[in-house]
Amino acid sequence: MRGVILAGGRGTRLGDTTRVVNKHLLPVYDRPMIYYPIATLRAMGCTDILIVTGGEQVGGFAQLLGSGFTYRVQEQPDGIAGALALAEGYVDGVFPVVLGDNYFSAAPGMPTGATIYTHATDRPQAFGIYDPHANVIIEKPKDPASDLAVTGLYVYDAQVFDVIRKLTPSARGELEITDVNNTYLWDSRMAVRQIPGVWSDMGTPDSLLTAALHAKETAHAA
Ligand code: DAU
Repeated sequence: MRGVILAGGRGTRLGDTTRVVNKHLLPVYDRPMIYYPIATLRAMGCTDILIVTGGEQVGGFAQLLGSGFTYRVQEQPDGIAGALALAEGYVDGVFPVVLGDNYFSAAPGMPTGATIYTHATDRPQAFGIYDPHANVIIEKPKDPASDLAVTGLYVYDAQVFDVIRKLTPSARGELEITDVNNTYLWDSRMAVRQIPGVWSDMGTPDSLLTAALHAKETAHAA
């Protein structure tokens, strides 16, 4: 099975640490960040992985990971859905996508159709939040309807590329993955599952530290 890691974007929330080095190559305890989403996709059954990243950064990934991966270049950081559009023609059927800065202690089994995975958060204003009553996701809500963050692990089918083609950029100028997911939810074409175990994004100094501390515990337990 083929899977996709989205590792473009700017990484501005990590300040000077990502001015020269791509966020996804930073160390998370004893391994580069990108190793964690690779492990997530492999645990879901992926044997082939596409990495989407910015043009000036692709060399660092190729140097680290070598030729066992496929790389595509997102010319402009025009959003997560913009990065996902580049996977068209690479994937086939139902496939998993993971954001390059998402840390999961355990991966779910591969579902048969489009699925999003939620996890409780104490920072609901920082994520896409799923409202189970309205069956809708609000991106970074001021007044969150729940504490269910939509994590950066998604499963899509081939129709996702048609959905992306119909999107218009959000107020922050990005093609939003939340708009993609809301289209699927409105059409009752997407399952919503809670993902067990530890989840952290690694996009801020504190969340990066949370992931690193958990990785350290796991490494010592192994
Ligand atoms: O971590 C989960 C959250 O990720 C979700 O709850 C949100 O719904 C979703 O929008 C996203 O929010 P963030 O604000 O954290 O996304 P961010 O811009 O930090 O991008 C996360 C990853 O997506 C990043 O590590 C690489 C990839 N990305 C992002 C952008 C904007 C790309 O590959 N290309 C891009 O243009």
